[in-house]
Amino acid sequence: MKLKGTIIGILAAFAIVFCVSTSAFAGDAAKGKSLFDGAGKCKTCHKTDDKKLVGPGLAGVKAKHSEAWLKKWIANPQEVWASDDADVKDLKKRVNKEGKPKTAMAPGKLSEGDIDDIVAFINTL
Ligand code: HEC
Repeated sequence: MKLKGTIIGILAAFAIVFCVSTSAFAGDAAKGKSLFDGAGKCKTCHKTDDKKLVGPGLAGVKAKHSEAWLKKWIANPQEVWASDDADVKDLKKRVNKEGKPKTAMAPGKLSEGDIDDIVAFINTL
């Protein structure tokens, strides 16, 4: 009986750690929307439907890029553009900028937490 109690205790501890750690890493989409519209300035260049503004409309962007790529891109678009990885090659083709040395996307002044929130938001589009 004592062993059973210990096992249940250990499982409960794991469950708590799991819940706390996932909520700490997952972005907050509601906060992300206000950053997208406000301090992040994304809205000046991107629409949330599929219509182009300065950059592509972001509807369905989740299917085009992983969360990790989106975070890298938003933090430092020029560096990611220069890496010419598979996602960049696909993006260049879609925006008709193959061979262009620079992206027109300006990096924002955002913390890592802000970027997590923005990615959580754009992944709902
Ligand atoms: C100055 C205009 C500008 C701002 C501000 C801007 N972007 Fe962009 N973004 C672009 C352009 C333009 C592209 C496409 C690459 C190119 O044409 O250089 C792009 C590409 C992207 C892509 C890839 C889209 C796809 O279809 O693959 C994502 C995602 C993105 N931007 C998110 C954001 C987010 C989030 C913000 C705010 C933190 C932001 N952008 C701010 C101009 C901008």
